[in-house]
Amino acid sequence: MVSREKRVTILDLQKMQQQGTKIPMLTAYDYPSARLAEGAGCPVLLVGDTLGMVVLGYDSTLPVTLEDMIHHGRAARRGASNAHIVVDLPFGSYQSDVTTAMNAAMRVMKETECDSVKIEGGNSQAIETVAKLVTAGVPVMAHIGLTPQSVNALGGFKLQGRTPRDAIRLLSEAQKLQEAGAFAIVLESVPAALAAKITEVLSIPTIGIGAGPYCDGQVQVWHDLLGLYDSFKPRHARRFDEVGASITGALVDYIEAVRAGEFPNSSESFGLSEEVESWITRNLPGKEQSMRQAEQVLSETDGSRK
Ligand code: KIV
Repeated sequence: MVSREKRVTILDLQKMQQQGTKIPMLTAYDYPSARLAEGAGCPVLLVGDTLGMVVLGYDSTLPVTLEDMIHHGRAARRGASNAHIVVDLPFGSYQSDVTTAMNAAMRVMKETECDSVKIEGGNSQAIETVAKLVTAGVPVMAHIGLTPQSVNALGGFKLQGRTPRDAIRLLSEAQKLQEAGAFAIVLESVPAALAAKITEVLSIPTIGIGAGPYCDGQVQVWHDLLGLYDSFKPRHARRFDEVGASITGALVDYIEAVRAGEFPNSSESFGLSEEVESWITRNLPGKEQSMRQAEQVLSETDGSRK
């Protein structure tokens, strides 16, 4: 069981927003990424269903299962005991009806020991689901704008809220999700001016991704930020490092060192006492020789020791 003594709570996040302290959030999908992110001081980690793309190699988040999310959520929790961990409910685990959503959220909370769940969408079904989950004691982060689980309905990974009608709809969804009890809301791929307006109107924190600088916090995908995913680089992502290139360089060096017989060297190998080493050289049989002679020498040596 993970201790919750120093855990970042939803109240801590809301306090950051009220104090005007920007909230950095980062995806983390496993033990090492969660450990590194928490160690670097990131207060909120998202076990996002983007793991379907950047970790599992699918071309969308749609194939991700509840089991996948639980598996990765548990690993992330083991890596970060204090950060606030949000786990995405995956496509198909909450859209059909509230009971299904409730069962999925309860499993995620129980089995991963995460702190909250995130669901996508702002339609009436999503709003009802948020309200029911919150009433049942599950903190919910909402997510509107570009909602990748609806990529087929949206016609692609496209900027949302570009027309006055869409802007009104998104602001209204955000307000209703707040009223339903969401403790924070992700705004993905919406124009900066619209995200600024939603941030101004809401009292809960807004967390932007491709939503400009005026949100209360920002979330980025681990692989985009570190240069680990080269299939696609979203316009909003900034590479803070090129870790992928550095990994490739290290792997090339390793392969060359093995081929050159230069790895492992003596300090990377295990030695023996001179006596045992010389015994091995003298007595262990070579190719196609029998072991019998070595066993005989050993039993004679053992006998003479008794
Ligand atoms: O799954 C994810 O990583 C997300 C972020 C893009 C917000 O939902």
